Amino acid sequence: MNQTNSQFENHRWSENLLMKIYKEKDHGSAYVAQRLADVISEKQKAGKKAILGMATGSTPKGVYRELIRLHRDEGLSFKNVHTFNLDEYYRMLPENVMSYNTFMKEHLFDHIDIPAENTNIINGDLELEEIENHCAEFEKKIYDLGGIDIQLLGIGRSGHIGFNEPGSATDSRTRLVNLCEITRNDAISDFNGLENVPTQAITMGVRTILDAKEIIMIAWGNKKSEIVQKTFTGEISADVPATYLLTHPKVEVILDHESSAFCNKMLPM
Ligand code: F6R
Repeated sequence: MNQTNSQFENHRWSENLLMKIYKEKDHGSAYVAQRLADVISEKQKAGKKAILGMATGSTPKGVYRELIRLHRDEGLSFKNVHTFNLDEYYRMLPENVMSYNTFMKEHLFDHIDIPAENTNIINGDLELEEIENHCAEFEKKIYDLGGIDIQLLGIGRSGHIGFNEPGSATDSRTRLVNLCEITRNDAISDFNGLENVPTQAITMGVRTILDAKEIIMIAWGNKKSEIVQKTFTGEISADVPATYLLTHPKVEVILDHESSAFCNKMLPM
């Protein structure tokens, strides 16, 4: 089922995977925000909690801006929402300006009515011997709430989802990982020099991500076109952990013209 609209093209990549290619990334972000809002509203009507998996970085910023607008202008409430973030740098104080804790407050949580106790972000400031327990508790909390309804993902140029770098096993769970060179290099400007970029992070595992009932992966811009092509035209393998998404029953991939450049040669437009 391939469909064209003035704003986007839909490509049914496989039975389980829908690819949407947007002319403008703002339109793509608005679409994703609306998908999340729909899950929240549906759950609200049923008197249930909505469990959302959140990403950080530059990719989801437009989605969060639109969610804030939906809250401010259209009365979308987040009182029934529980969030779990994909990852946090290690070692990193939650209150550090570079932490993903700070990112989420700045870009979303401080602007909506989500109860602070409903937001779950891994603590990057633990002693090594505390990490295993913390990760197990994080996983248990997700499980006890009935699992993640919809997980938002970006993709790293290394092919990572969360911080599951090449070599990550398909059955991996939340754990401490080493960041690969591509990932650390991409963070140089944020951290003002490679020497300041953390070498490690704590991330949800591949299996934790794949356990989500639905997944939306977003990639914007030229910088991501090569890894997006590798992900969707190569073998499913630990070399590109994002390829594991092809094994999930319900995935949407949201691209813009630049990140989907390879499609121009492959798909009927
Ligand atoms: C962030 C995360 C990462 C990023 C990816 C893309 O929580 O888990 O996988 O989604 O590194 O980062 P940006 O969006 O900055 O290009």
